[in-house]
Amino acid sequence: MTDRPVIELSHITKRFGNLVALDNVDFDLREGEIHALVGENGAGKSTLMRILAGIYAKDEGQYLLHGEPVELRSPRDALNRGIGMIHQELSVMPELSVAENVFLGRQLMTPLGIVDWRRMNQIARDELARLGFPDIDVKQPLGRFALGMQQVVEVVRTIISGARVLIMDEPTSALSPAEIERLIALIDTLRESKRSIIYISHFLDEVMRVADRITVLRDGRKVATLHKSETSVDQLVSLILGREVNATLPPTLDHAEEEEHTLLEVRNLTADVFEDISFTVRAGEVVGIYGAVGAGHFDLARALFGMYRFDSGTVRVNGKTFPRNFSARYAIKHGLAYATESRRQGLLLQDSIYRNVTLPHLFRIGRVVPRQKQELELSRPAIHRVGVNPKDPLYTVGQLSGGNQQKVAIARWLTFPPKVFIMSEPTRGMDVGAKSEVLSVLREFRNDNYGVVVVSTEPETVLAVADTILVMSRGKIVARLKNENLNKDVLLRLL
Ligand SMILES: Nc1ncnc2c1ncn2[C@@H]1O[C@H](COP(=O)(O)OP(=O)(O)OP(=O)(O)O)[C@@H](O)[C@H]1O
Ligand SMILES: [Mg+2]
Repeated sequence: MTDRPVIELSHITKRFGNLVALDNVDFDLREGEIHALVGENGAGKSTLMRILAGIYAKDEGQYLLHGEPVELRSPRDALNRGIGMIHQELSVMPELSVAENVFLGRQLMTPLGIVDWRRMNQIARDELARLGFPDIDVKQPLGRFALGMQQVVEVVRTIISGARVLIMDEPTSALSPAEIERLIALIDTLRESKRSIIYISHFLDEVMRVADRITVLRDGRKVATLHKSETSVDQLVSLILGREVNATLPPTLDHAEEEEHTLLEVRNLTADVFEDISFTVRAGEVVGIYGAVGAGHFDLARALFGMYRFDSGTVRVNGKTFPRNFSARYAIKHGLAYATESRRQGLLLQDSIYRNVTLPHLFRIGRVVPRQKQELELSRPAIHRVGVNPKDPLYTVGQLSGGNQQKVAIARWLTFPPKVFIMSEPTRGMDVGAKSEVLSVLREFRNDNYGVVVVSTEPETVLAVADTILVMSRGKIVARLKNENLNKDVLLRLL
């Protein structure tokens, strides 16, 4: 890293209506620097980066690029000046080839005006090899590659478009451990080529590995900018939260024999992407299903909830065998709840928080006409419990930050607790505070004698809450472990 500033933002303020998303924020980026941006859900990280990348206009403040004031009018304008952003949600086209994705929106032409496939394939191949990914068949559809590769292709596309500054908004939140390692290696390669990277992440260990400097935002204000060498994960946590985090989970209770009945029984469940899956969940038990992206555990979770077709096997909940091809509504009625790993799926983004929370329960409220008051009363405690910010139940979900949308998806299931909760990536995209909130909510479900299934690619998550851990790899359960004296390394080795 050199001391030469590439970007200097000063006194940046951004409002959305009455909400002050950014309040007088300073931020600077140097040549060859990896600068991490951390903060709670809704702290303003994505908003600040959208201003930097020409997506939002700032209300106040100054933006200097190489010492000159600039007013960016669009993302294209930003890219022309060398600033590219890779978003929280990927924007690749799985049905197009790797090379086509690399050149998306700016195909190369021969002098005769024909699309120059040969040159595009060659450049895509060379660029991928240079960044540490040789032997990629760039003519294959991108959708055939793992998520991690799709992320790499976004990076290559942004670089080929001329970006010297790359903004990565939560790049690793959906990647497997091996893919995260490759992305970190890629970032090191980019650093050597004097590019500058802004790296947004909730994984503080990862931040401490990759970043040169770290800026902490809280409630739209800048709290600190620190050199990696002068800080620690613990200090970052307290700066992010503005208090010490209470990491102690509720105590684990012993359950009496008679309470030990089985709430969920899965027998020989087989579908196209998983095979012969059997396990049980007792009252007061948390079963963690751990696997890498593509292990089949997310589709298994969907199948248990009637949202993914399985070919054979049975699902029993609380002694009742579910019929073939049961629906999600049938599953809810008979005591199951499911929170998806994709925070946008299943949320009505244009609707308010409270409507999203009560949505799966309307048939219980016996709604003929909308009963706003009743729905508000029902939703409020759940919204408070997971700490959705802003707390206003009337706020539109689409305007919430990514992590807060996830909290709404969880709050849904706190109004009428079911017998068995199935949660895929319950803490994805959540800040440290929200993570420990959600983990302690899961622990409480357990102590209240519900059954819980936690499906995750994050070893930390299953280790923190599960009594029993099933490891899945390529559609099969490859290990069943009691969560005693286990650690991350053991789980990673079993994948
Ligand atoms: N387009 C918008 N309209 C209205 N409010 C918005 C909009 N975009 C963001 N906000 C609000 O601005 C605040 C900051 O949101 P932002 O997305 O920047 O948070 P974040 O730090 O990226 O959080 P996360 O970690 O959850 O992604 C939040 O309160 C959010 O609700
Ligand atoms: Mg964000």
